[in-house]
Amino acid sequence: MEKLYEGKSKIVFSGEEAGTCIIKYKDTATAGNGLKKEDLPGKGKLNAEISNLIFEYLMKNGIKTHLLKVIDETTILVKKADIVMVEVIVRNVAAGSFSKKYGVAEGSSLNNTVIEFSYKSDELGDPMINDSQITAIGISTEDELKELKETAFRINELMTKLFEKAGIRLIDFKLEFGRAGGELLLCDEISPDSCRLWDMNTNDKMDKDRFRRDMGGVLEGYKAVLDRLKD
Ligand code: TMP
Repeated sequence: MEKLYEGKSKIVFSGEEAGTCIIKYKDTATAGNGLKKEDLPGKGKLNAEISNLIFEYLMKNGIKTHLLKVIDETTILVKKADIVMVEVIVRNVAAGSFSKKYGVAEGSSLNNTVIEFSYKSDELGDPMINDSQITAIGISTEDELKELKETAFRINELMTKLFEKAGIRLIDFKLEFGRAGGELLLCDEISPDSCRLWDMNTNDKMDKDRFRRDMGGVLEGYKAVLDRLKD
């Protein structure tokens, strides 16, 4: 298989069939734009299973995604997509960079759902970017941006429900989209690496903040997320 790209937590190969790619999850955990890095054996498998479960749930509920087939515990077959160069962040509760930047205590409720974009550029450190800047430099058109926002809000509704049933609060998360065959598709992964997930009763963190903040019990948190989603 031809390796197309190796990222911090996944490797992308070209698929046998035209227009497809194979994505393999790695066990590497990184934070702070790769400055903090550690191997967490089993993380790839946990994230793959959690992400596949969420993608399949979203697809059942009408969200178009890149996922074609689960190949094995850490490998999936996806549609090859032209990635929209923004990360889409949705926030239900103040936390992380939002709390830091605007001086709002972590865990504070918000009057409305927040949507943010960052420009996908390792070189520039993924700077925050707004709608008019996105269209101005041609990252996306106004129509595509509208669809992207509507889809992100719909995904938020669906995921909030899914996690609520599992006794988990969906605090915030990051999405990536791509274009294939004239359609906008949800791409990348949705896992405890890319979401903040707090236990509904105790507010215990069950996501990558355990790694970012050296809290320990990273994989235990991820495993608990998976077990509860499967229940
Ligand atoms: P933030 O509070 O650090 O901006 O992160 C918001 C959410 O987005 C959080 O759930 C983690 C996720 N995220 C990623 O998955 N990748 C990233 O590069 C960043 C900055 C955030």
